Amino acid sequence: MMVSSEASPWAKSGGLADVVGALPDALARLGHAVAVVIPRYMNAYDAPATRVIGRLPIALGQAVYDVSVWEMRSGGVTTYFVEHGGLFGRAGLYGDQYGEFGDNHIRFAVLSKAAIEISRHLFQADIFHCHDWQAGLVPVYLKTASAVDPNFLHTRTVTTIHNLGYQGSFPRQKMAEISLPDSLYRPDLLEFWGRISLLKGGLVYSDELTTVSKKYAEEIQTPEYGFGMDGFLRARRASLTGIVNGVDYSRWNPETDTAIPAHYSATALEGKQTCKRELLREMGLPEAAMNRPLLGIVSRFATQKGFDLIADMAWELFREDVYMVVLGNGEQRYEEMFRWLTIHFPNKVALRIGYNDALAHRIEAGADIFLMPSHYEPCGLNQIYSLRYGTVPVVRATGGLDDTIVDQNQPESTGYKFNDYTGNALLGTTRAACREWEDRKAWTAMMLRGMKQDFSWATSAAEYSRLFTRLHPSAA
Ligand code: ADP
Ligand code: GLC
Repeated sequence: MMVSSEASPWAKSGGLADVVGALPDALARLGHAVAVVIPRYMNAYDAPATRVIGRLPIALGQAVYDVSVWEMRSGGVTTYFVEHGGLFGRAGLYGDQYGEFGDNHIRFAVLSKAAIEISRHLFQADIFHCHDWQAGLVPVYLKTASAVDPNFLHTRTVTTIHNLGYQGSFPRQKMAEISLPDSLYRPDLLEFWGRISLLKGGLVYSDELTTVSKKYAEEIQTPEYGFGMDGFLRARRASLTGIVNGVDYSRWNPETDTAIPAHYSATALEGKQTCKRELLREMGLPEAAMNRPLLGIVSRFATQKGFDLIADMAWELFREDVYMVVLGNGEQRYEEMFRWLTIHFPNKVALRIGYNDALAHRIEAGADIFLMPSHYEPCGLNQIYSLRYGTVPVVRATGGLDDTIVDQNQPESTGYKFNDYTGNALLGTTRAACREWEDRKAWTAMMLRGMKQDFSWATSAAEYSRLFTRLHPSAA
């Protein structure tokens, strides 16, 4: 039973949704019985689900939250939506224009407790697979409040870290509201820098830990990438595995993609030119850019993603004849930085602020080069989509970016990597890519090598499957 705050297509803010939207099917294909528990946000109201529990009381602290549970079956996977209008019936997943919701600890405590109840009543889980801090309380409740419950005697828990930068940190005073006894406020349990961390709770109480690439599994054990948890993660290294994400080629494939203006493949590339021409038109960039490299960015605007490096190098880069399309939203300072670029380079940089899945596909298809200069990147999916779309990635060699892209110096290169987290390093590498773009033969060869890479879920799901069956032989 997976517990998550996101799953495509019902709730998405980033890659977590893509993973929880696809991994369950891949596991089901391997013969596992898989259920997914997610909140019924406003966006999921039209999911074709049936109500299977009308009133499930979830007691937390002094309060009781009556949730209902909706079930949807598709392929081998059952999705359970936890409904509570007051807590989840909102447009935003974690916040709105005023910031993070003030009751997120309660919302995800309710989700976690509901998952445990669903396992008791509807789908007996051998393994809870918990994703990120929002599901961190599942292992905590199972190993504390429910420790003596015979229902869960053989239940095992796995927590996957999709991003150590989001820790579910709350003031100690909130513990009572989510039924956590003060005895858990200890440095070796939930306490973290004078607050509580729900992610830490999940990591402490889970039987096994995973993260979404091998390189990131190593990196988070170092002070530079450990967000203060590196010591703890080093201590648990024997239970920590890196399993790189797969991608869903039924959604991300230029041969079948319904969002792009022309289809293409490794054996018939012409359509990519049409995609580029249409993208330039859609974004209001000059037709002249057809003869020059077009850089693409699709991203949450977060510090993690390394956009300060773009600010550092922009003046230099746009002295040359290169173009850039950007789609993203998030932190205001990055929105402003990109807006500023469109003001200074109106014929070279085009920006759309917002979340737009179809446009994300059109940028993957229409751009020549995809930029991901991340400071850290647990896995990253866009660079893998880019490979399939023949859009050569320029990435910083960190986490999953390093694991999935073969460097320009290798004979089998699929992209460009740089190490130093500086604008200069990004500039040099982007320039090298733009130079190579002019050599059509070498460039096309690189595109084709990327397009032939296979990151389908089957391989990664098999790794999860081995982990699950090792933990709980009857999960096989
Ligand atoms: P992260 O999960 O850290 O945001 P990933 O690369 O793993 O990074 O996944 C990002 C996912 O979100 C991709 O599917 C990407 O296409 C999508 N995405 C990010 N920002 C936007 C946006 N503004 N509009 C549409 N899709 C977006
Ligand atoms: C996180 C990470 C991203 C990863 C995604 C799915 O949001 O930032 O690198 O691909 O989760 O695991």
